[in-house]
Amino acid sequence: MKIQNVCCIGAGYVGGPTMAVLALKNPDIKITVVDINKVRIAAWNDSDFNNLPIYEPGLKEVVQEARGRNLFFSTDVEKAIDEAEMIFISVNTPTKTYGKGKGMAADLKYIELSARQIAKVATTDKIVVEKSTLPVRTAQAIKNILDHTGNGVKFQILSNPEFLAEGTAVQDLLNPDRVLIGGEESEDGKEAIEALVNIYATWISREKILTTNVWSSELSKLVANAFLAQRVSSINAISELCEVTGADVSEVSKAIGMDSRIGPKFLQASVGFGGSCFQKDILNLVYIAKSYGLNEVADYWEQVIIMNDHQKNRFAENIVSKLYNTVSGKKITFFGWAFKKDTNDTRESAAIYVADALLDEQAEITVYDPKVSEERIYADLDYLNTRSPEENRRLVKIVNDPYIACQNAHAIAILTEWDEFKEFNWHKIYSSVIKPAFVFDGRKVLDGRTMKQLGFQYTAIGVSIFNSTS
Ligand code: UDX
Ligand code: ADP
Repeated sequence: MKIQNVCCIGAGYVGGPTMAVLALKNPDIKITVVDINKVRIAAWNDSDFNNLPIYEPGLKEVVQEARGRNLFFSTDVEKAIDEAEMIFISVNTPTKTYGKGKGMAADLKYIELSARQIAKVATTDKIVVEKSTLPVRTAQAIKNILDHTGNGVKFQILSNPEFLAEGTAVQDLLNPDRVLIGGEESEDGKEAIEALVNIYATWISREKILTTNVWSSELSKLVANAFLAQRVSSINAISELCEVTGADVSEVSKAIGMDSRIGPKFLQASVGFGGSCFQKDILNLVYIAKSYGLNEVADYWEQVIIMNDHQKNRFAENIVSKLYNTVSGKKITFFGWAFKKDTNDTRESAAIYVADALLDEQAEITVYDPKVSEERIYADLDYLNTRSPEENRRLVKIVNDPYIACQNAHAIAILTEWDEFKEFNWHKIYSSVIKPAFVFDGRKVLDGRTMKQLGFQYTAIGVSIFNSTS
């Protein structure tokens, strides 16, 4: 089956870049990305490519080439569904904030709405592809809705989880480690799988395209993220031990990472992992395990989250204790708000929780981040509901010049590993801050020795204060 028209519901961090690369590599397929968010679609269609709603290195160039040729962004969801033979569902699946499974299970209301809309509109057979991260067996739920509310047309459901990481999305899409496609084992299922394989095979070798049953595919996505997050929590647990024993966590990471069975990636100690996937997917895994009565399995994975929360809390507590047990009325400058470098995404960013803890201690925070907007930062704090929006705006200031951000600061905290922080004129910064000049490096981006020579009281994650020369 040759696909000619593709629709993607959801123009977010997953749908946008994924469809842009799919369109780039398949110029003969018309791809329409739809979203109910008019502002987002307008930004994707902006004549100035610097205004795309998502910042990803290399994305602008891909969109520039494909948009208007075979890549289109639209708010006309029904028309795009009607025209397409293959529909990707790439809508958000946040953790539930109400009712059963609150704080743990994935909220599938956007998925369900999409499925119902497809069922309502479809007058020809469709292949529906789950792209959003979903709990295992969601495909079954989607199929139920489609088969029972549709117009008698046939649907095939595929699971095709996304493994791209933000900040490297375009590279990850162009050169993925693997593509995973799960489908039904029937003849129709196999045909649908083959149709999707053909789309990826235009630029990815077939050995890297893995086909499985739907449940393996759905579960693999959760497990991949759980394993990655577990590595970060593991090294973060060791970072605390390093701080009290005199070991340096970077040296430990290097030493263990050179064991080819362990490998060097994802061993960077930090203020805590963030992002839209890790926490959500682990909570999801925990919820699924609990719902099958597998309490030991659930507890095992939950510990990864507990460790991550601890890492964020202790970073904030360390700032308070080093500043003579009070930050009340003191200015703390945050370098970085995004959950990692090279993205403007802030979902679950450690910075939000560290800020919240310091605001509870009556600190005043000034934020400098090269890509995150002022509105986003206030929205992140308001969402916590810890204090009123007015209070957040009174206590938190956003500044777009790093040197102005540091003036008269009692401490600087590095929350994101943006490369530019290394290039700052730290000598100039030293002269403008209140002494002693404290720097808390939550990402280990700066050179400890140089910082100390400049006069800073420099503390980094995973480095003992008695032994902090690195
Ligand atoms: C993750 C998965 O990597 C990706 O495959 C999946 O599709 C979505 O979730 P993402 O959240 O975009 O991607 O970024 P990732 O690079 O995995 O980083 C997640 C968090 O872990 C970030 O806050 C990052 O700073 C942190 N991290 C990562 C560390 O603290 N240390 C590390 O060694 C690696
Ligand atoms: P992700 O990181 O998974 O891509 P985002 O929140 O960035 O998540 O993007 C999901 C997008 O899906 C949002 O822009 C949202 O407006 C859109 N969306 C949610 N439900 C629907 C729907 N029923 N129809 C069209 N778009 C939807």
